[in-house]
Amino acid sequence: MSTGFSRNEITVLNRVRTRFLDGTNAGGGYWKDDEELALYDDTFAQRIGWKWEAVLRELAARAWQPRSTRVLDFGCGTGVASRRVLGAFRSIREVAFTDVSAAAIHFATRRMREEFPAIPAVPFDKTAPLPPGTMLVVSHVLNELPAKAHAQLITLAEQAEEILWVEAGTHADSRSLIAVREALRSKFTVIAPCPHAHACGILAPENAAHWCHFFTPFPSHAAQDARWSQLGRELGIDLRALPYSFLVLQKNAALFPEASRILGTPIEKKGHFELLTCAAEGVREVIAQKRDVPDLFRALRKRELAPAYQLRVEAGKVTGVNKSGISD
Ligand SMILES: C[S@@+](CC[C@H](N)C(=O)[O-])C[C@H]1O[C@@H](n2cnc3c(N)ncnc32)[C@H](O)[C@@H]1O
Repeated sequence: MSTGFSRNEITVLNRVRTRFLDGTNAGGGYWKDDEELALYDDTFAQRIGWKWEAVLRELAARAWQPRSTRVLDFGCGTGVASRRVLGAFRSIREVAFTDVSAAAIHFATRRMREEFPAIPAVPFDKTAPLPPGTMLVVSHVLNELPAKAHAQLITLAEQAEEILWVEAGTHADSRSLIAVREALRSKFTVIAPCPHAHACGILAPENAAHWCHFFTPFPSHAAQDARWSQLGRELGIDLRALPYSFLVLQKNAALFPEASRILGTPIEKKGHFELLTCAAEGVREVIAQKRDVPDLFRALRKRELAPAYQLRVEAGKVTGVNKSGISD
């Protein structure tokens, strides 16, 4: 980003955003023209890209690598998700795009060619089985899918070697993604975010108010870019908050050792944090006191959490902690 947005650009971006808020995005295929796609790619898709970078950083920290050589970007929009995946994994040699919008597929293909000229875009044949060695990439699509398209996507997903899926960090979208996890869990190893392979603990009735989501910091280069503050001001939203939900599955992979994960937004109180932890035993609220676990307390303050911890919890309080499974 450099110079400010024009009046016309703000009008277009407002239109795009309103569509996502008022439900007129249902069914997809709404992209009007290339200008709209380009503005989306430069703004909202950048924020989605930062969420993908957070997921890909976590996978790198865990030394996880895909076996796939091919990506299918489902509901590709401008293709930001597959571009981030290509940036992270050199083993991917081709990408197929699919979207109900032909304009989106054209745009995504062109943008990928600009950034990754050596990677070909190959056609997606929805009548054929998914080719072996395909990674399914899905980003911010679930809340647009009618039931039939949702069921078709699950059937497609079952055929993938790996699945990398990122959604908005809202209660509704996280819970839709949890339903996907539960539908696919028996056919895949759950790589992330779950620190266990059992049924999702968020689904327990006492956790109805909770959802599985994480935050990544607003990048400092964007914080210094006047266009982001102009956009936030004009649209009346805080663009710096970057909540996301995600799911990474792989066929026949080694199980990540069972551990605990801290979900959502830890709440700081005097001398302690209130946390929501996820582990094989379930999702539960616990307290982390500065005097018991000073390193964890500091990490919570700085919002620099590891993806997984070995936590010792006694009477609702964390009394011991170690990072788990991280190769840094
Ligand atoms: C919010 S956009 C996200 C685009 C892109 N994945 C991203 O993360 O920026 C949702 C995209 O899903 C597409 N879409 C909606 N329903 C679809 C369906 N049934 N099949 C394929 N694509 C669909 C829309 O056309 C749109 O491009």
